[in-house]
Amino acid sequence: MIRRLGNVFVLDTPNTTYAFGVIPSGQLEHLYYGERIVIDTEEEAVVLAEKRLSLPGNTVAYSSEHSNVSLEVLRLEMSGGGKGDVREPFIEVTHADGSYTSDFVFADAKITQGKEPFVTLPGSYEENNQVEELTITMKDHSYDLTVELHYFVFKNQDVITRSAKFINTSDEPVLLDRLMSAQLDFERADFEFTTFHGAWAREMKRHDMSANACKIVNESYCGCSSNRSNPFVMLSKKGTTEDHGDCYGLNLIYSGNHYEAVEVSAFYQTRIVTGINPRSFQFHIAPGEVFEAPEAVMTYSKSGFNGMSQNMHRFVRECIVRGEWKKKPRPVLLNSWEAAYFDINESKLLKLAKAGKEAGVELFVMDDGWFGTRDNDTQSLGDWYPNKKKLPNGLAGLASKVNKLGLEFGVWVEPEMVNVNSDLYRAHPEWVMEIPGKPHSESRTQRILDFSNPDLIEYMTEAMTKVFSDGNIAYVKWDMNRIFSDYYSPCLPPERQKEVAHRYMMGLYKMCDTLMSRFPHILFEGCASGGNRFDLGILCYFPQIWASDDSDAIYRVNGQTGYSYGYPMSTVSAHVSDCPNHQTLRKTPMASRFQVAAFGVLGYECNLCEMNSEDVKDIKEQIALYKEWRDVLQYGSFYRGRAYDNVYEWTVVSPDKKKAVGFEMQVLFNPNTHFETYTPKGLDEDKKYLFTNRQLQINIKDFGGLINQVIPFHIKPDSLLHNVAAKLVKLPGEKEYCIANGKTLMESGVHLKQGFGATGYAEDIRFTTDFASRMYFMEEVSNTMESEHIE
Ligand code: DGJ
Repeated sequence: MIRRLGNVFVLDTPNTTYAFGVIPSGQLEHLYYGERIVIDTEEEAVVLAEKRLSLPGNTVAYSSEHSNVSLEVLRLEMSGGGKGDVREPFIEVTHADGSYTSDFVFADAKITQGKEPFVTLPGSYEENNQVEELTITMKDHSYDLTVELHYFVFKNQDVITRSAKFINTSDEPVLLDRLMSAQLDFERADFEFTTFHGAWAREMKRHDMSANACKIVNESYCGCSSNRSNPFVMLSKKGTTEDHGDCYGLNLIYSGNHYEAVEVSAFYQTRIVTGINPRSFQFHIAPGEVFEAPEAVMTYSKSGFNGMSQNMHRFVRECIVRGEWKKKPRPVLLNSWEAAYFDINESKLLKLAKAGKEAGVELFVMDDGWFGTRDNDTQSLGDWYPNKKKLPNGLAGLASKVNKLGLEFGVWVEPEMVNVNSDLYRAHPEWVMEIPGKPHSESRTQRILDFSNPDLIEYMTEAMTKVFSDGNIAYVKWDMNRIFSDYYSPCLPPERQKEVAHRYMMGLYKMCDTLMSRFPHILFEGCASGGNRFDLGILCYFPQIWASDDSDAIYRVNGQTGYSYGYPMSTVSAHVSDCPNHQTLRKTPMASRFQVAAFGVLGYECNLCEMNSEDVKDIKEQIALYKEWRDVLQYGSFYRGRAYDNVYEWTVVSPDKKKAVGFEMQVLFNPNTHFETYTPKGLDEDKKYLFTNRQLQINIKDFGGLINQVIPFHIKPDSLLHNVAAKLVKLPGEKEYCIANGKTLMESGVHLKQGFGATGYAEDIRFTTDFASRMYFMEEVSNTMESEHIE
């Protein structure tokens, strides 16, 4: 709910309050953001405001009438530069007279119901449009310019979003050098700033930094939100744990260059801003023109990182992801990439699809290599017509054959890129982001199409429309495989070149808007060399994203944990792949590959036709199990348990809390650690649950020569006999079984069966090797079921 109490604005969500007020000099003083508090009158808000009597030494008075106001020591809702606040600004404008001081003060406020879509950018929404909006109009009277600050309060979510609009209400053109989306000022300087970094094949590693002085910047200059630094960040009070402590989460609904800076001021106050990266950004705004900043998402929880993640997950599921696939079970897919790379043809693909069907796969995806003369990555991007040698019956022919096998069919595209060796580049070199006449830096031998060019957008929208209508296409993987360099649009004049990166995003979003409305039934999956563009902007169009090219379970357990801080698992696509893994050459147990991937949107990316029968059988069982628990795994509430001491622990709980799935992985085997617990989270304290595990089979070869200590004859390790015995004899893994109350399970943890400790084999021992993991199931039991089980 939004209330205006005189000069104070109070924004309440079910569990949080955000408040600010207009001070006599006209600025907006930030008063509070945190756990829900009661403010009934303007007078009651006095307690939240800074008390100013005189000017701190060596600071600047805002004006002679307000000689006790230094903007440097105020907590502000938006800050310009040049009037005494020397911290990170919210806005920077270069005026026609060359000055770049901004002085925006309060002019007007309006509270409205419902949320209108943004004009140039994607934004959040609410199905019943029960969003309340507060629009604050700020005016810079010196230059007759306007900024609108928009606050959106989601009645059913503990989320407030913010955005800003710059309107040139003057009669002279100006240069907009920066416009942030949100600014949050706190009166304290003891936060931890948590960001998520990485690179290709190792995305989303969590980093915690103490913000005690100076400035820490999390940003992308890659042209996309990037695998280097994700736009999702957290600020938490020192000592915050997964389940306790104050935690703020911020994200940006934007897929381009972003910027999140945390600055601790000389007066021990902390400011965080988030928005478009001001580096190489400058927009020419003519009189009457408007510039929209992307929407920033903010949430707060006092229940630690998990509490904050729950808010974000709900918000992304309900208010970001949209369309037919929002809540539909996502199909288990088989992707051709790691099975065949570019070496594909119809018969090979159909064999793979058939093997997938037999294993229980629901959707077959033809990845790269199907168009133009795409035999490798040096050619044909841009030439979106099927290669007749590989696909004599075209896309439609292959799709119909795949459909006849009982599978849906999906296809890979990379619409934003072009190879120099392509018909498209030869025909339209001017459609490429290149600096005319200058050498270009290369990446994967491909260049970026200039999405600030409306002609290109129109052409590519039609080209994609043709591909997506060519046969029964149920799924599209939309890839984007290089970062930006040589920023330049041949269609823009020299003085507008710093608009390119943002114009690219607006162009891309425009194309996505058109294609989503033309193809509402298609399930789109975003991808950018894996997780190079995993953000809320993309999720407004594509409900799921290929989170990393690295499907190695040991990387993934960390990467998926990283994603889980800001994104729900229904957005994270995860595949079981070959062993050794193609990115790490690591050998991990099949069980762990599945058990990690199962916590995302499960797929397979391996050559099922060449796998041994044991693995294929295993995969069949995995898929059957996944389907049984899919609703919980894809749409349940995901909680992190331990993610240290070599152990990862996850729990996902169905919305009605009747079912839950647990996961535990020990990364490296720790000798003589027999006793382990798994502690679920998010269960109903008052429900009783039957706790079981996914019982594994132990390969006797895992014991190596130790086998000779327990059998009456001798087997040479890795001999033919050893291999045959391993094929014929499997030892049953431990069986977990208990019935307990939800609260008991969460408070005490489940004390698991004793682990292997080099002291011999005993039946029902929890046999763990390096990279071993376990999957647990919890189901509510009724009282009658309970007595049946006991009998
Ligand atoms: C990069 C993607 O991340 C891979 O999954 C695959 O689609 C390749 N591109 C194809 O070129």
